[in-house]
Amino acid sequence: MRFQQHLDDAMAAATPLLGRGRVADYIPALAAVDAEAFGMAIATVDGEVCEVGDAGRAFSIQSISKLFSLVLTLALGGDAIWERVGREPSGSPFNSLVQLETENGIPRNPFINAGAIVVTDRLHSLTGDAGTAVADFLRAETGNTLLDTDPAVAVSEAGHGHRNSALAHFLASYGNLENPVATVLSNYYAHCAIAASCRDLALAGRFLARHGVLADGSRLLTRSEAKRVNAVLLTCGTYDAAGQFAYRVGLPGKSGVGGGILTIVPGHGALCVWSPGLDAAGNSVAGVAALDAFTTSTGLSVF
Ligand code: DON
Repeated sequence: MRFQQHLDDAMAAATPLLGRGRVADYIPALAAVDAEAFGMAIATVDGEVCEVGDAGRAFSIQSISKLFSLVLTLALGGDAIWERVGREPSGSPFNSLVQLETENGIPRNPFINAGAIVVTDRLHSLTGDAGTAVADFLRAETGNTLLDTDPAVAVSEAGHGHRNSALAHFLASYGNLENPVATVLSNYYAHCAIAASCRDLALAGRFLARHGVLADGSRLLTRSEAKRVNAVLLTCGTYDAAGQFAYRVGLPGKSGVGGGILTIVPGHGALCVWSPGLDAAGNSVAGVAALDAFTTSTGLSVF
């Protein structure tokens, strides 16, 4: 399929929504972004990259990094992580504390903050440096050697991280962290604060469209593991809006409060969109509209 026209049309459909929603402002470094920015890129399984708008502009990937920490943890440590984190949608905001107490310190899924903190902890034990492991993976898949953590964002996240600290201490009180809280959080912030573009993220997510096979032809995940990761993305990747996202877009996807959304079209490619204005659940308003237009015009979805 030729994608350029579909990307142009998706951007046109989203343009009236640019500037709508709220830009994440819990740290100054995120609030400073251009609210009307928009980019979109697809990296296909056969090596093509098509893009539109600000697809080459780096933004803070935030929770999209949780996808990469999970796949590395599965690749290096296997299914043991599922004893410490569930695979059910939470129906709660991404930074909610409420379910953790009634569910004995086992987060509902790896994409809410509590679950991602547990995954980061495991990845840190497996690699010795979870933040660097995620950045190294992204550099390898994209070939973008400049891709890295934005230290200013990471530092401000730590300075405004009371809720994540509370989650991490709560997890530790249930024995669900292997490393000290401060170590786990600094690695969690390091991967959330990575700056990357739509093009980078589409290239980095493409292995999931290739059923687990990386850019160099080696395999990160088995076909079955890739299927399962896509399933968790579909049900949990956009938090308490996962139902609405599946309804409108029909693809597995992971959003971040930087305004990016990375989606997977299994067998076809990885598609990333970015626009900073967020809806109440923390998903990009124009980004969801563009993905909706793209899957409608191409007919590509998992349904
Ligand atoms: O931990 C946080 O709150 C941020 N570093 C990441 C949150 C995020 O991107 C949630 N996604 N929509």
